[in-house]
Amino acid sequence: MKQYLKLDEWSIIEEGFDPENHEVSESVFSIGNGHMGQRANFEEDYTGKTLQGSYMAGVYYPDKTRVGWWKNGYPEYFAKVLNSTNWIGLKIEIDGENLDLHNVNVKEFVRELNMKEGYLERTFIATLKEGKEVKINTKRFVSIVDKEVGTIRYSVTPLNFNGELKVTSYLDGDVINQDANYDEKFWDHVATEVTNDYGSVTVKTKKTEFVLCSTKKTELVHNGTKVSFAPELIEKEKFVGHAFAQNLEQGKETVIYKYASNVTSRDHDASQLIKVGMESLQAALNKGFEKMEEEQRQAWADKWKESDIVIEGDVAAQQGIRFNIFQLNQTYTGEDDRLNIGPKGFTGEKYGGSTYWDTEAYCLPFYLSTADPKIARNLLVYRYKHLEKAIENAEKLGFSDGAALYPMVTMNGEESHNEWEITFEEIHRNGAIAYAIYNYVNYTDDKSYLGEYGLDVLVGISRFWAQRVNYVAAKDQYMMLGVTGPNEYENNVNNNWYTNRIAAWTLEYTLSVMDYLKETDANRYEALQKKLNIKGDETSKWVEIIEKMYYPFDEELGVFLQQDGFLDKELIHVKDLDEKHLPLNQNWSWDRILRSCFIKQADVLQGMYFLNDEFDMETKKKNFDFYEPMTVHESSLSPCVHSILACELGYKDKAYEMYLRTARLDLDNYNNDTEDGCHTTSMAGTWMSVVQGFGGLKVRNNQLILNPFIPGEWKSFSFKIVFRGALLNINVTDETIQITNEADVTTPLIVHGTKYEVKGNDTLSIQY
Ligand code: BGC
Repeated sequence: MKQYLKLDEWSIIEEGFDPENHEVSESVFSIGNGHMGQRANFEEDYTGKTLQGSYMAGVYYPDKTRVGWWKNGYPEYFAKVLNSTNWIGLKIEIDGENLDLHNVNVKEFVRELNMKEGYLERTFIATLKEGKEVKINTKRFVSIVDKEVGTIRYSVTPLNFNGELKVTSYLDGDVINQDANYDEKFWDHVATEVTNDYGSVTVKTKKTEFVLCSTKKTELVHNGTKVSFAPELIEKEKFVGHAFAQNLEQGKETVIYKYASNVTSRDHDASQLIKVGMESLQAALNKGFEKMEEEQRQAWADKWKESDIVIEGDVAAQQGIRFNIFQLNQTYTGEDDRLNIGPKGFTGEKYGGSTYWDTEAYCLPFYLSTADPKIARNLLVYRYKHLEKAIENAEKLGFSDGAALYPMVTMNGEESHNEWEITFEEIHRNGAIAYAIYNYVNYTDDKSYLGEYGLDVLVGISRFWAQRVNYVAAKDQYMMLGVTGPNEYENNVNNNWYTNRIAAWTLEYTLSVMDYLKETDANRYEALQKKLNIKGDETSKWVEIIEKMYYPFDEELGVFLQQDGFLDKELIHVKDLDEKHLPLNQNWSWDRILRSCFIKQADVLQGMYFLNDEFDMETKKKNFDFYEPMTVHESSLSPCVHSILACELGYKDKAYEMYLRTARLDLDNYNNDTEDGCHTTSMAGTWMSVVQGFGGLKVRNNQLILNPFIPGEWKSFSFKIVFRGALLNINVTDETIQITNEADVTTPLIVHGTKYEVKGNDTLSIQY
């Protein structure tokens, strides 16, 4: 863990340039707008260690699978998030010397990610040959108002000399993915165009044939006056550039404005891309940098209005939570139901495909509580649209009759993961997808979703579970063999308690949804019954499975067993391990990890978190006390679930310790891997730790419930939630809970067990 970023409530700030930190900073300072995003690569050339990354949402390449030993059922390819045309490039030469921070002396370097207003800024002084000092200030953002446009203001001021600046402003589509399996280039050239004013590069992905058209224009302002220039035009395969020169005068600023638009065939007719690209570029040019900047500021202010969390008395915690909220809002904005939230968002290549169970298990609650319900709904519709593919996926593995197995990793609904113990066995992901439907309807009360989309998905998943269990006649019980639970440090186990429980729960929930539809909309139910071919003997089988599901349990300890045989292991606590062994995944052989008792992430406790009301406090406590001490939290998704349960159990110190592990995971590079990209999906877990953990937010039987407590380290904290038309700002100190309703509807709620009501545009204060 290395802390080199300055603490600040609203910004991430790096002072001083250390090339060793550069790739981590490139991840942390990433910017995005849901449509596109990019790592904080420098605009000018940089020959030091860097991971170039500019990504377009939903644009991927099916990279041929590479595995040591092929297993039947493996997918042919792994869908990769693609490094796309570099639109930020500005080659800067001063008196013939190329500006490259790897080769010059750099001082007064400051990099800032301003999260309040949504931009990235960098300032430094470079010392060139003969002691010439030049000050550079560069600011850029991808607009959250005009999603296809990004813009840069790059300023150059010579401090102690007069000289000549040469700029080459370019678009470069000849880029690679570092994680390409066969060193293949994923983009083909389609067209380039360049005139004195504009340039465009159109490229197409191999196989998937996504077309990306990037257009750009560059403007020059010297000492406050716009300068026209006759550029040298450069045109190569997948590349266009404009090169131009400007005399530099000591102390006077020269500013290069670069505007670029990136449009894809996902959103527009491929034959019209240049036209729409030029139109969106022109609209940005008409506004100009300052107006776009103003709109960006306003749009981010609106986002923060609904999603901010304020922590008083702990700047590190404040910065951490705002960073997480910022990155989530940069990654997924919810207008496009074909998109999802990749574990790295727009911050890196690793993990390829965009969708894991992370979305349903961790991200959904964030979007449910901080945005219009249609955004969370779109996340569910995404899976509905992939139902047919999930059925095909199950068929490939030998299931039938509409059984659906959603992929472990996907871009387009097809599985692209290829480790048998996960691809074929980590099937609990299906349960999270079913649970997300419950979660959405429970929170929003939008029951229309059930008849419109929900039941189709629930039936597909239920059919899978009904075929995946096996009946053991000797015990008169149903079991589930050969699975991997959420704890990936155990593979191919029998009767993972969590998987068995979430499977049976899905069947229960599906049956209850059917009953609900029968009662409330018999016609719709009948139509669905016909369409899905639901038969009475099928549902009776589900009832039987629910009744006879086997759950490993130890009477003496009073705990559910993670899987059969768990107690045969040598049970050691993490605190009794020598520090040198941690993290286990970097120090132990896989074999040793698998045989140990150590748990990667919440497993039994994931079930206690999801199905919280099924268990009494005593049961939750026993299971937490038993499992947490053996948990190494080596998945970034782990600490948040533990933090929430610890809050519920009154384990305040543990709750705070777990919160800290999640809140600044990337800012402090906790897992020593942030250079690959940020852990975007786990950021939603951090939000959950504050709102569901310290805030104690739950919704039960249409009632909003809060059980807040404040960690001793904080003076106060407040969070915002949208709930059924209300926008509530909940402020907690160690004496009061104040709930301000910023919308116009009255909201009943229960705080620490007492019923209250907060009227529209009113504030409720509770002493405790
Ligand atoms: C975790 C999975 C998760 C994946 C992507 C893995 O390390 O064990 O639960 O889905 O990362 O975030």
